[in-house]
Amino acid sequence: MDLYEYQARDLFEKYEVPVLAGIIADTPEEAKAAAEKIGGVVVVKAQVKTGGRGKAGGVKVAKTPDEAFAAAEAILGLDIKGHVVQRVMVAQGADIAEEFYFSVLLDRANRSYLSLCSVEGGMEIEELAVERPEALARVEVDPLQGIDKAKAVEIARAANFPEDLVEKVSDVFVKLYAVYTGEGATLVEVNPLVRTGAGDIVALDGKVSLDENASEVRHPEHEELEDKGAADPLEAKAKESGLNYVKLDGQVGVIGNGAGLVMSTLDVVAYAGEKHGGVKPANFLDIGGGANAQVMASGLDVILGDEQVKSVFVNVFGGITSCVAVAEGIVKALEILGDSATKPLVVRLDGNQVDEGRAILADANHPLVTLAAGMDEGADKAAELANA
Ligand SMILES: Nc1ncnc2c1ncn2[C@@H]1O[C@H](COP(=O)(O)OP(=O)(O)OP(=O)(O)O)[C@@H](O)[C@H]1O
Ligand SMILES: [Mg+2]
Repeated sequence: MDLYEYQARDLFEKYEVPVLAGIIADTPEEAKAAAEKIGGVVVVKAQVKTGGRGKAGGVKVAKTPDEAFAAAEAILGLDIKGHVVQRVMVAQGADIAEEFYFSVLLDRANRSYLSLCSVEGGMEIEELAVERPEALARVEVDPLQGIDKAKAVEIARAANFPEDLVEKVSDVFVKLYAVYTGEGATLVEVNPLVRTGAGDIVALDGKVSLDENASEVRHPEHEELEDKGAADPLEAKAKESGLNYVKLDGQVGVIGNGAGLVMSTLDVVAYAGEKHGGVKPANFLDIGGGANAQVMASGLDVILGDEQVKSVFVNVFGGITSCVAVAEGIVKALEILGDSATKPLVVRLDGNQVDEGRAILADANHPLVTLAAGMDEGADKAAELANA
């Protein structure tokens, strides 16, 4: 789960990472009041979960509360890479002397942690990483040792910090690492980390991604950070039922068991759709191993709740769960859903007890259900029905 900048700022504060005052605002009026409260120069910043806000006009300096009002008015509603700004943070203005970059992240490929650090931080960091990669230090961090003071000094030196700053910035790195492990994060990034005119080191922008696997067990309080309003309502409903569902843009609902099978089903449906008016898969839904009636009903309920869906393709390969259980699940799910099931269903079953499973569906003879012998045939039929 990615956090908003203001949420990252609050977490930083909890771990005593130096940050400046920040107040969130949903309207220009609130932004003006926030600027009055903070006093002096403020910076009005779009709160969206994407990078490059500054370049997109989402970060504006305001010298007076009225300017903060105007800045918020300009930023709220702005579309930044497909994210519409609903909220801004009014941050205390910093007197920036220098901008640095620091991050620590999970390095899956090396089964380790990695810290990236540069004395040339700021909005051009992406270009820097490509054009002069040597200016961005990459220091492996042993997860068992973490970033203690000695490691933090090593990172600061690798990034070419002047010797008189090493002490101060390395203290901040240790605290940022405490955020990383303390919160179960996969990324903590500060860009820019600045030196102010007065010589203080301050984190002016923060990006934090939390590992949801850690959140469930160790950090129930992370639930409050979740952005429920912004989540797709169907995805939220699926999550409540414990389903692994991702909404896509097409017309053919897809249910399968096993992430691999569902992914290939999406491909096959997209391919078949080319012959049927360009219809596409409407979602990813993996019902996993336990394809019982309740899971099937919840899955169908979510998919049928998508107005764009015109047909559904159920593609199940019986392994530990036999096709009998799946077929019974489909029949019962249609009973449970009753009149709310209104769209045609194409079912392809294969694997464990396939003949018995197909027989159950054939006997039930439900008017909405069509049986397909194979995956390609099923995808083709479902695409055809969606285009009818
Ligand atoms: N509180 C502040 N005071 C003064 N200047 C600021 C403040 N916050 C940000 N800035 C300036 O604005 C620039 C962009 O801000 P910030 O890093 O938050 O956004 P961004 O980098 O464009 O967004 P993202 O990190 O999402 O790509 C910073 O590099 C800094 O120069
Ligand atoms: Mg930034």
